Amino acid sequence: MTDTFYSQQLNRRDLLKTGVALSAATLPLSQLHSANAVEGTRLRTAHIGVGGMGGADLNSVSSHSQVAVTALCDVDSTILAEASQKFPSAKTYSDFRQLFAEMADSIDAVVVSTPDHTHAPAAMMALNHNKPVYCQKPLTHDIYEARQLRLLAEQKQLPTQMGIQVSSSPQYRGTTQLIQEGVIGKVSQVYVWSHKNWGYDGPAFEGEDPIPETLKWDLWLGTAAARPYKKGKYHRSQWRRLIDFGTGTLGDMGVHICDTPYRALQLTAPSWAKTTCRPPTGVGHPEQNLVEYEFPGTDFTTETLSWKWSDGAAAPPDRSQFNLPESVTLPNQAALFVGEKGTLLLPHVADPQVFIDGQSIPVELPKLDIKNHYHEWVDACLNGGPTISSFSYGGPLTEALLLGVVANRFPGQVLKWDADQMQVTNLPEANELVRRNYREGFEVHGL
Ligand SMILES: NC(=O)c1ccc[n+]([C@@H]2O[C@H](COP(=O)([O-])OP(=O)(O)OC[C@H]3O[C@@H](n4cnc5c(N)ncnc54)[C@H](O)[C@@H]3O)[C@@H](O)[C@H]2O)c1
Repeated sequence: MTDTFYSQQLNRRDLLKTGVALSAATLPLSQLHSANAVEGTRLRTAHIGVGGMGGADLNSVSSHSQVAVTALCDVDSTILAEASQKFPSAKTYSDFRQLFAEMADSIDAVVVSTPDHTHAPAAMMALNHNKPVYCQKPLTHDIYEARQLRLLAEQKQLPTQMGIQVSSSPQYRGTTQLIQEGVIGKVSQVYVWSHKNWGYDGPAFEGEDPIPETLKWDLWLGTAAARPYKKGKYHRSQWRRLIDFGTGTLGDMGVHICDTPYRALQLTAPSWAKTTCRPPTGVGHPEQNLVEYEFPGTDFTTETLSWKWSDGAAAPPDRSQFNLPESVTLPNQAALFVGEKGTLLLPHVADPQVFIDGQSIPVELPKLDIKNHYHEWVDACLNGGPTISSFSYGGPLTEALLLGVVANRFPGQVLKWDADQMQVTNLPEANELVRRNYREGFEVHGL
């Protein structure tokens, strides 16, 4: 990693207009593969993780008329069978390593919708095979993984998209433009919050349940250390609460809710982060967090920017600190910008509200040409072109949020961050959480 990335990003700011995200140049399919790999003009997709959000991703990507769903992979055979019924001609796999070994020449692009800890291994394997990737949010479980994915995608000029589909909503895109047009002046503070609680304060699970015949537990664990299966504790969804697999509420809702402030203010890496939460248990994420960050100033902020994330019972923040009309209640999930001229409240996902001198003022969302988040990526795969939340954007956003997840293991301590060196400079033990060791046998080239 050079020490120029963040300054390069600043230099490329002029590419960012009206909320269209920074996106490295990408190559169209015809230049990515040998001619015989492009069957007519159809994009042959492989989908890794097809239950939960993976099912939604499968439906959304395949709703593009030029997509041919070609491979499906899931460690749960019941879920795989359901997806296979919809796409009977797609080959099915339980191990994505086998999928790449057998089908690398028969697929053009890959969608990754697994739990967070498996995003990077699957996405990196796809990039290693020169495949464009649509990857769910947060881009990765660890900071190092996000950095590596971004660098390789940029180096290979592969079209990528992080699964923050609300970044393509009129409310989020329009608010980005309003902020950049200076509706509330330069922004000095951002408050972001979600009432959700993806924490767990209990001990490590004891005992063992029989592994369902339908689940490849060892493959589900993937890069994480082996441990006994416990029913309902990991698969499905509950993995979010656990530090080895998920990223807590900040990595879950935070990625959506923090997107507009991060994008609109063209933030880079935070200078530091500090979390107020309960002491760590080594098992689950805290149930409520207040994560404070400072970001270096940009064209749209004051000299520095103060950023406060709160979740669980710590959300929403105390409304009395904002100059809002009595009638306004803070929603359960939102972003709030404090600017030199006023305040903008952006509920998740609804129209923004602007307040100047404590009074609500009418605002109209700008009319923008907004693309379907999934189809934009498919079109970029087929023809080249930008995507709103490429890994060039999603990588740094994820890195910034994950620093807060690292900080919740060191409550009350300021973690000073050197993004270029990818290091916490004042707390060496925190650096062990920047890059995770992968389990033997599950290593992936490039990670
Ligand atoms: N963008 C959004 O709005 C949104 C919404 C929900 C979830 N998500 C993201 O989607 C991802 C999945 O979340 P979920 O709620 O659907 O989780 P889930 O546990 O319900 O589903 C995960 C799916 O992946 C499969 N899987 C697990 N490990 C696998 C592996 N190694 N190989 C192949 N398949 C594997 C599971 O069997 C399951 O089908 C997460 O990263 C989450 O953050 C995004």
